Amino acid sequence: MAILFLLVAAFVATAEARTWPRQANIITVDLTKTYQTMDGFGTSETFQRANQMHALSESNQRYALDLLFNTTSGAGFTILRNGIGSSPDSSSDHMVSIQPKNPGGPKAAPKYVWDGNDNSQVWVSKEAVKYGVQTFYANAWSAPGYMKTNGNDANGGSLCGVGGASCSSGDWRQAYADYLVQYIRYYQAEGVGITHLGFLNEPDLTTSYASMRSSGSQAADFIKILRPTLDAANMTNVKINCCDAEGWNSQSGMLSGLNTVDSMLGVITSHAYTSQPGSPLNTKHPVWQTEAADLQGTWQGSWYSSGGAGEGLTWATNIYNAVVKANCAAYLYWIGVQDGATNSKLIRISDDKKTVTPSKRLWAMANWSRFVRPGAVRVGASGGASGTRVSAFRGVDGRISVQVIGGSGSGTASVKVGGWTVKNASAWITDGSHDLSEQPVTLNADGTVSTSVPSRAMVTFVLEGGE
Ligand SMILES: *[C@@H]1O[C@H](CO)[C@@H](O)[C@H](O)[C@H]1NC(C)=O
Ligand SMILES: *[C@@H]1O[C@H](CO)[C@@H](O)[C@H](O)[C@H]1NC(C)=O
Ligand SMILES: *[C@@H]1O[C@H](CO)[C@@H](O)[C@H](O)[C@H]1NC(C)=O
Ligand SMILES: *[C@@H]1O[C@H](CO)[C@@H](O)[C@H](O)[C@H]1NC(C)=O
Repeated sequence: MAILFLLVAAFVATAEARTWPRQANIITVDLTKTYQTMDGFGTSETFQRANQMHALSESNQRYALDLLFNTTSGAGFTILRNGIGSSPDSSSDHMVSIQPKNPGGPKAAPKYVWDGNDNSQVWVSKEAVKYGVQTFYANAWSAPGYMKTNGNDANGGSLCGVGGASCSSGDWRQAYADYLVQYIRYYQAEGVGITHLGFLNEPDLTTSYASMRSSGSQAADFIKILRPTLDAANMTNVKINCCDAEGWNSQSGMLSGLNTVDSMLGVITSHAYTSQPGSPLNTKHPVWQTEAADLQGTWQGSWYSSGGAGEGLTWATNIYNAVVKANCAAYLYWIGVQDGATNSKLIRISDDKKTVTPSKRLWAMANWSRFVRPGAVRVGASGGASGTRVSAFRGVDGRISVQVIGGSGSGTASVKVGGWTVKNASAWITDGSHDLSEQPVTLNADGTVSTSVPSRAMVTFVLEGGE
């Protein structure tokens, strides 16, 4: 029996609440139209945030891990982004390097050190493995300072040896590639398979923490050394991610510089700070949104109050835009679990460290990540009320997931799957007063399935049927 899970995202941007006309709301799912294959949803515990999780009581650790990775009681995230350290020490929130001291030049025998902990990222990763996570993105913010033009892992500077970056100490590209391979080996030995490797973070930004500048062509100058180094280490399956620029437009601007190494690239990655994912990037590779957050806003736990940057509905819509408008195959929030009063994380550790509280941002992500599992293919979805945004996905098990995100208007939404006969259906609603509660659904004689969508609610259709 074929089972269909349908997720349709709909959004009505009217200023005043109103009721949708019934006939305008048929959403058609077209299984013959296919878009990106999903790699998943996730987050990160870099910059020693994993240490904060690890310091919690055992029961709070379990609660926090369940919220992130459990498919029945949490978001069921499938991707963890770890930070590869470049700093000489672990002071403040620094990510310490596996080679804190210059071994004596780019050709000198390496002097790696491994504490088996990596600021508790090893612990979080091993726990994630137990929940079934299979996608680990290891991402360096910078090379160690001695490999760079400015002699510092912070404050910008470039990797010695890429175009326009020559250093009296020599060309450090091979040494940096070897260093990244060694980091993957350490994780392999811990039972954690790194699947994706990045060597830049926001290369368009110079800042007081670990940061390294790079243009697209400078990134290519390194990738042509990194790819063969990975292959020679039997890491042919490890994909190279590039370049985690601060925003979509900036990442777009780096693409032409990467043309010469296109066949060596795995995934194009970008953050969503300086510009949001609004249209597909010009690449044949999968595209991931790898870092987004409301960095400054004070802690906001609600689903909807005024459309603010930290609210759940805002994030449900942000994900919609990334996945449907920009064809993103993955969506990662910046931090999963952390203390402090901002929305830079999904889950807050209280000031006394005794309580762990999820925001509706986590549940907004969960409403996607629990249904749109890795390997799901986005399929065609169109129609709906004026201003409606729709999406649908078919999972590897043959399921299709569909979501409706309501705007200020309300009314009945109906879904029809072309070429399919719906045999059973259910609908699940999330809003200020419902947490994915089941609500009545109607199977109509014309083959459509209907349910009501109140103002600013997110509704998930679950359909069973077949050809
Ligand atoms: C996920 O949560 C459920 C319900 O609390 C629990 O029974 C299950 O053991 C958890 N799964 C894992 C992998 O911990
Ligand atoms: C290469 O890696 C594969 C798994 O990716 C493993 O099965 C194989 O044993 C490795 N070979 C060597 C020579 O390390
Ligand atoms: C229809 O789907 C609902 C919700 O998933 C389920 O509880 C019910 O058993 C299904 N009915 C049939 C006849 O399959
Ligand atoms: C969807 O979001 C609601 C409200 O934020 C939450 O309570 C619910 O558990 C989420 N659903 C899933 C499947 O995570």
